[in-house]
Amino acid sequence: MSENRIPYIIEFPKIGSENLGFISVAEKELLPFEVKRVYWTYHTPENVERGRHAHYELEQILIATTGTIVVTIETPKGIRTEFTLDRPNIGLYIPRMCWRDIRYSANASQVCLANMEYDEADYIRDYDQFKALTA
Ligand code: TYD
Repeated sequence: MSENRIPYIIEFPKIGSENLGFISVAEKELLPFEVKRVYWTYHTPENVERGRHAHYELEQILIATTGTIVVTIETPKGIRTEFTLDRPNIGLYIPRMCWRDIRYSANASQVCLANMEYDEADYIRDYDQFKALTA
């Protein structure tokens, strides 16, 4: 069941060289879900904390294509882990029902691969509600 899944880092292939530059690829064999939506965030001020929500069904992979993104995840079992995304060839898999707080360096661009279309009803934006739902 996906509620037993834990967040983890996915390492994508890094093709190229220092001379030519690099390409990374997210092929389906490396992904824990079928991608239904891709969005990206950028120009996030450093003093802003984004995220601050969980999702009933949404699963995501976050990639910092530039800059550094620090993601703190709290799983349904209450385990908090901080992940630093500071290489464009790694992604963070976030299972459903995980609370996330996210901070961005000023130059950070984030790409998100998601398993479903945008649905505001899928968000849990109240931390106390998240704790009650996962107790
Ligand atoms: P949100 O997911 O809360 O952003 P973050 O987790 O990065 O802080 O989304 C911020 C706003 O953007 C919110 O009003 C919903 C809207 N939004 C969409 O309309 N479509 C989308 O695909 C996403 C991800 C957000």
